[in-house]
Amino acid sequence: MPAGRHFLQIPGPTNVPDRVLRAIDRPTIDHRGPEFQVLAKGVLEGMKRIFRTRHPVVIYPASGTGAWEAALVNTLSPGDKVLMSETGHFAALWQKMAGRLGLQVELIPGDWRHGADHAEIEKRLAADAAHAIKAVCVVHNETSTGVTTRIPLVRKAVDNAKHPALLMVDTISSLASIDYRHDEWGVDVTVGGSQKGLMLPPGLSFNATSDKALAASKTAQLARSFWDWGEMIAANANGWFPYTPATNLLYGLAEAIAMLEEEGLPNVFARHDRHAEATRRAVRAWGLEVLCANPDEYSSSLTAVVMPAGHDSDKFREAVLQHFDMSLGMGLAKLKGKIFRIGHLGDFNDLTLAGTLAGVEMGLELAAVPHRKGGLQAALDHLGEQARKASAARKAA
Ligand SMILES: Cc1ncc(COP(=O)(O)O)c(C=O)c1O
Repeated sequence: MPAGRHFLQIPGPTNVPDRVLRAIDRPTIDHRGPEFQVLAKGVLEGMKRIFRTRHPVVIYPASGTGAWEAALVNTLSPGDKVLMSETGHFAALWQKMAGRLGLQVELIPGDWRHGADHAEIEKRLAADAAHAIKAVCVVHNETSTGVTTRIPLVRKAVDNAKHPALLMVDTISSLASIDYRHDEWGVDVTVGGSQKGLMLPPGLSFNATSDKALAASKTAQLARSFWDWGEMIAANANGWFPYTPATNLLYGLAEAIAMLEEEGLPNVFARHDRHAEATRRAVRAWGLEVLCANPDEYSSSLTAVVMPAGHDSDKFREAVLQHFDMSLGMGLAKLKGKIFRIGHLGDFNDLTLAGTLAGVEMGLELAAVPHRKGGLQAALDHLGEQARKASAARKAA
């Protein structure tokens, strides 16, 4: 075993802070007892604040894929049409799931370097005079590409087309990392997961709902049992779950919510923005390319870096793991071998970023990937400048 902590710099699961680990490391309690009721009510309310919603949030003992399925089966019927945008690997997986569940997918193709095309969404919805499309599904932050779709523009596209489709958004790699507002942005179902911005181990996932989504769930005909919102929300009202909840992960969730609120969500988002900007400065200084093609869509939770032609990103990642005990994200599906992804989300600070970028820079050298020196320094210069500004602002206040 190498000495020191492993650097888990994939874009999730992320490093679990000691406070959360300590919180989880407690005896499991009776999930039908009064102590559990207090815990459950606390995390259910807390997650409403994280999603920025006043509507019920459902917590599943499942990975994010479960919450994707829950969003679809609670609101739709066999044969319903859903409009999806091919932003990358995760959007493609959600699309595949919709097809398997018996939905008809209308797909807007994409180049995996841009977010969902809101103008095209508006066009497709405007052309759907019969309102056959029942839901528009978008991945907020495409973890496979490091591209963030601007959800308010998608909401506007639906409104401009005067279309009644539900809006469903996957925030698995943006929740508690990138600004997100379920109610204000008029989202009907938001899908979330525990293992990224929430700084928990994998194993919990979420659906934030709306009045319109809850109304749709009353008539939706897709078969569902484990995922059914109705039983869950009814039980949750009194702090209970219809089946055995992931009690110890809920201890961790309560602690994670407390940590996020101590820092303040706007500060959490600003921290992620700062680390993403510093990372991009490093990438440019190395003479490498950021995969995201539109600066308005840069992700603040991860950066995908394009490998120079003829160099395999998996070989580079292997060298980094072997020599510096750091895991970087691989290129998924058609991006395999062509990119690597730097996760800079969750329990992460300036020096974590410095260590991460130092490992990348040394790895580029070791794996003989053509690059210029000075990426780490460019990032440090930016972080230093930001620290100076923050300290001047504190003095002025
Ligand atoms: C954006 C996005 N959606 C969905 C998923 C699937 O979630 P899980 O692997 O937790 O089932 C992931 C996983 O990384 C993801 O990043």
